[in-house]
Amino acid sequence: MRPRVTRRRFLGASAATVAAVTGGGWLAGRGLLGPGEPGRLLPSEVPPPRPYQVPLPVPPVLAPVRTDATTDHYEIVQRPAALSILPGLTTEAWTYHGSFPGPTIRSRAGRRTVVRHRNTLPHPTVVHLHGGHTPADSDGYPADLIMPAGGTTAAPAGHDGHGHHHGGHPPGRVSVGERDYTYPMRQRAATLWYHDHRHGHTGVAVWRGLAGFHLVHDEEEDALRLPTGDRDLPIMIADRSFAADGSLRYPLVDPNLRTPGVTEPYMNGVLGDVILVNGAPWPVLATDRARYRLRLLSASNARRYRLALDPPPPGGGGVVQIGGDGGLLRHPVRHDELDISPAERFDVLVDFSRYRPGTRVRLVNRLGRPLARPRLGTTEVWRLISDFHHPVHVHLDPFQVISRNNRAPGPYDAGWKDTVDVRPSEAVEIAVRFTDHAGAFMLHCHNLEHEDMAMMADFVTT
Ligand code: C2O
Ligand code: CU
Repeated sequence: MRPRVTRRRFLGASAATVAAVTGGGWLAGRGLLGPGEPGRLLPSEVPPPRPYQVPLPVPPVLAPVRTDATTDHYEIVQRPAALSILPGLTTEAWTYHGSFPGPTIRSRAGRRTVVRHRNTLPHPTVVHLHGGHTPADSDGYPADLIMPAGGTTAAPAGHDGHGHHHGGHPPGRVSVGERDYTYPMRQRAATLWYHDHRHGHTGVAVWRGLAGFHLVHDEEEDALRLPTGDRDLPIMIADRSFAADGSLRYPLVDPNLRTPGVTEPYMNGVLGDVILVNGAPWPVLATDRARYRLRLLSASNARRYRLALDPPPPGGGGVVQIGGDGGLLRHPVRHDELDISPAERFDVLVDFSRYRPGTRVRLVNRLGRPLARPRLGTTEVWRLISDFHHPVHVHLDPFQVISRNNRAPGPYDAGWKDTVDVRPSEAVEIAVRFTDHAGAFMLHCHNLEHEDMAMMADFVTT
């Protein structure tokens, strides 16, 4: 009797290699990663809030402080703010103007937009308008710092952005306290976003809250009579992790930010375990039975999502893409699922009149762990790829090693095993088959220090 073997394809986490088999994972640093998943999960120290308890926030639209014949002027104060994100806790964030996401700016194509940013944060910042067609001196080159108000132009210790050339880049255009960014806005209607872009510290700054929408409108867009007002919704998706005191958890090598970067296990990216949408954990929105325009943006540092409507509307194709990063598409594209990676924008229409009144529709991420969903009684081949030495243990049922580095199994691989030694740079294929018990189980490194450092993942038998 031959067991049925399922083989699915996936993109391995190692640079640009296509591996042939799935399930299992990539053992990087001290993380256990699913196929195609970059980075490593940073677990929160607090239990995750219950989903679907809070309403979807909509970031405030910023009013100009002044407008004239050609130009709209805005002012944003960058400041720390105590936000209520998790029930019963406050989260000290770095914000644009006190909110996360920051306020939304709406520009008209062809009208100049000038944004004065005042930095009252304890660290230098740089503002980049992502997707903007912007002259160099307003583009937020990573060395063009705004030093904190009240400070000096002296760059902080360890910062190489100020005053001298490195790698052929121009020296930083450093200002103190504030800076005007001038955007000609000679570009098409599109969903842009602004975020911090400081040399060596962008990851922590965006994680702590420095991100907002900047929407460009034009006549081509007007002519399409797309949904407007509260049916034109910017949707910023960002995974974050929280420390026990409610603060945003992030694995800095140097908490004082003098040395940039994250600790070694997180070099391939930091994944949070709480998904914020417009700054709220798994929020809900009561919709009319009407078409909505959702401007989806991933402001996640590393996490990728495969978004889908659950349930899909009758007939499918419920996510109608009308625009991408740079503006409206020539023709709409219907999707059942949408893959979105950090910084990408998808401008989509969802017609909720396709659902019966009272239907609860979830926007789900089909890439979230578990790592694998084996069917009971079905044999799968899992390929475990390692950068280091890890004894990998699978719960529930033993497995058989079927190859090591695409060769025959080794001398110690015979028979039914539940733990297999995966050595540095090895790929070990195991045939797994689970019986009797449906549910969530663990797969983890049995180097117990590694296990304690979260080198584990779930698989769910169905
Ligand atoms: Cu170089 Cu979103 O930026
Ligand atoms: Cu290990």
